[in-house]
Amino acid sequence: DKGGWSSFMAKEINEQADAVGNTLRGRISSAGVEIPELTALGDDRLREIDRIIIIACGTASYAGHVGSYAIEQWARVPVEVQLSHEFRYRDPVLSDRTLVISVSQSGETMDTLMAVKYAIERGVTTISVCNTQSATIPRESDAAVYTHAGPEVAVASTKAFVAQITAIYLIGLHLARVRGTFSAEEQTRAVEQFEALPAKVAEAIETRDQIAQLAHWMADTRSVLFLGRHVGYPIALEGALKLKEIAYIHAEGFAAGELKHGPIALIDHGQPVFVLVPSPRTSPIMHSKVVSNIQEIRARGARVIAVVEKGDTAVLPYADDVVRLPLADTLFEPLLQVIPLQWFALELSTAKGLDVDQPRNLAKSVTVE
Ligand code: F6R
Repeated sequence: DKGGWSSFMAKEINEQADAVGNTLRGRISSAGVEIPELTALGDDRLREIDRIIIIACGTASYAGHVGSYAIEQWARVPVEVQLSHEFRYRDPVLSDRTLVISVSQSGETMDTLMAVKYAIERGVTTISVCNTQSATIPRESDAAVYTHAGPEVAVASTKAFVAQITAIYLIGLHLARVRGTFSAEEQTRAVEQFEALPAKVAEAIETRDQIAQLAHWMADTRSVLFLGRHVGYPIALEGALKLKEIAYIHAEGFAAGELKHGPIALIDHGQPVFVLVPSPRTSPIMHSKVVSNIQEIRARGARVIAVVEKGDTAVLPYADDVVRLPLADTLFEPLLQVIPLQWFALELSTAKGLDVDQPRNLAKSVTVE
């Protein structure tokens, strides 16, 4: 039941404040973060972990990519992200001190399941971040940290993505507490950020009308680029994937710093570029670098759509459109930034007269390798 919405995807984008809130419930309090499923693994085991590999495909891998920055920053363990189907075939270096975190909405993605089984055979501790109760991947894993986004019907993943980032962040905070890498002050700050998040997500969802207008004039666009830095980088990748999937438009996401190493050659007159601008308050250096990137592409004719936090006026002289989001610390910005990009894909797909929920050639769950 679409509950009055024009598509399941529209409904699910709109449910994201609840997806985040429900995923936090029972795991976060003023005392900090505790995930009972991880406590059951034993704190000693979590203290001994010296390397984390996140495995996933598609959108779930971008959630993992965002999460890798937070876990590394908070729990001070090296974290890498690998696509499930690449992981197995590289003969990865694994030990009993390695932790593999798999991320899968369905919990049935064959590539990810096979990667998890491979890790288990090698004695690695496995945690599954999954949205589907009792799916195969969480059942096979040592621990399951469920996202509580509710059933996701649209092929393009939206609310599961924000719930995945939330769950991975909680794992990072749990690890940080157990490993003692976090001051009480930092812990409080992260808890505050989380508690304020659902209301901010709800506000970000209200960017739809502005985005719909943008998409309207862009219905004939053949290519869209997305730029981000740090946690904004995987959001750029996710924005591009959404557009490919449901609007069938060529799109690419780049790390903003990579621009001058090649992609800037693509910039031509009128080329639309979404730029995810980090907060000038919580990451002033990255902010100024991204503003320079905007100047560089604007000078070459790009049509710049800047996604900024409210009150950031630095981009105004160089942006054609500015999408404003509520204020959040750097690590929490992706949970807001992705929302206008989801709307953009949906609105462009709609403007092209396509079926938003059932894109061609794609299935909701990929159960073959
Ligand atoms: C993108 C999308 C896919 C899935 C990927 C993994 O919108 O839906 O990229 O994210 O196939 O699926 P799960 O999370 O079920 O393992």
